[in-house]
Amino acid sequence: SGLITIDPGYKNTGSTKSGITFLDGEKGILRYRGYSIEDLAEKSSFLEVAYLLIYGDLPKQSELNKFQNDIKMHTLVHEDIKRILEGFPSNAHPMGVLSSLVCSLTAFYPESLDPNRSSEAVYLSIIRIMAKVPTMAAWAHKNELGHPVNYPSNNLDYCANFIKMMFAVPAEPFEVDPVIVDALDKLLILHADHEQNCSTSAVRLVGSSQASLYASISAGINALWGPLHGGANQAVIEMLENIKKDGGDIPKYIAKAKDKDDPFRLMGFGHRVYKNFDPRARIIKKAADQVLGKLGIVDPVLDIAKKLEEIALEDEYFVQRKLYPNVDFYSGIIYRAMGIPTEMFTVMFALGRLPGWIAQWKEMRESNEPIGRPRQVYTGPNARNYAELTDR
Ligand code: CMC
Repeated sequence: SGLITIDPGYKNTGSTKSGITFLDGEKGILRYRGYSIEDLAEKSSFLEVAYLLIYGDLPKQSELNKFQNDIKMHTLVHEDIKRILEGFPSNAHPMGVLSSLVCSLTAFYPESLDPNRSSEAVYLSIIRIMAKVPTMAAWAHKNELGHPVNYPSNNLDYCANFIKMMFAVPAEPFEVDPVIVDALDKLLILHADHEQNCSTSAVRLVGSSQASLYASISAGINALWGPLHGGANQAVIEMLENIKKDGGDIPKYIAKAKDKDDPFRLMGFGHRVYKNFDPRARIIKKAADQVLGKLGIVDPVLDIAKKLEEIALEDEYFVQRKLYPNVDFYSGIIYRAMGIPTEMFTVMFALGRLPGWIAQWKEMRESNEPIGRPRQVYTGPNARNYAELTDR
């Protein structure tokens, strides 16, 4: 039916109208529901930001209390889900474990499959997934270690509870370090939404078939898993480690990145949309200094990162192409200082992106968007006569 325009990667195709996140890549501006990412990272808690993204306004104290308390009521995960977890080998990647456990919620709460359920029932699904993902994420990590899982502690706030479930071990007292909790809170805020990126588009597309919230978000976790999307923070740490092993020879790596015959790229540099500083990178850089300082950690890799940034930003190659550090450049350094293992970095990203996915799914459903169904240009064979098996 007429001419179809193809736009691989949707580089120039808008998929939706959205009132959630504003992004100006030329100016380096990021706002959630009109509030600057700088203000939110500085002044809000992650759950306040989650509420803002999902419901459109910053919560009043009473609204925040209810949201927080409702989440606390649902942090426990069904014991049968624990049995599913126990079926995974210990070397299972925690992202695969997490997406599977999230999808399994459709089986434990089958009412979530009803596309016509009341807004109260949708609220409960949102609360349940916000509450259970940290528990499942920490359990995915414990499964890797072969250690017993920790149950949630509802006397603790969202981030503190997660840290305890991640790191507490049996028969040892566990003190949650407020420096680590604050750092986590900030990192989750900075990752909470980024408009129509790959995983968010996956959530909206799956949800457009009226699939459940749990099934849609499980799809988002899988999309985030890919190295082109959520995996760059790990690649940055690996690159910085290599530079360190190489005696800190930064110019050598800059030259490699500029060499068009060498596939190497400066990891954590450049962005499809930002042609200016990624505003999240600025905040994370400052936070990395503060967190490592407060924890008394000296990580030579942080110095290498800063020097690398300084040299790159003065280099004509990077200036001309408007290549700046992105969100992933410094985040891995903080996660590492917090004691989070490298293969959990993408899970941390998922934890942060969760409210964004929920907000986008809810917006899409409430605006009655039609099912997502892209077109194609067919390039296969023309009509052929069927060949019997014996004649082929
Ligand atoms: N190092 C060296 N050169 C680069 C880099 C880099 N990191 N990024 C882009 N370039 C060059 C590229 O070679 C091209 O040069 P030329 O014009 O001479 O051919 C020019 O800059 C434009 O690059 P592009 O590949 O056309 O840009 P894109 O928008 O398709 O790619 C990107 C964006 C993020 C994939 C890319 O910048 C990149 O590979 N960066 C490194 C990986 C990374 O840090 N990814 C995290 C992205 S932010 C988090 C997230 O989205 O999940």
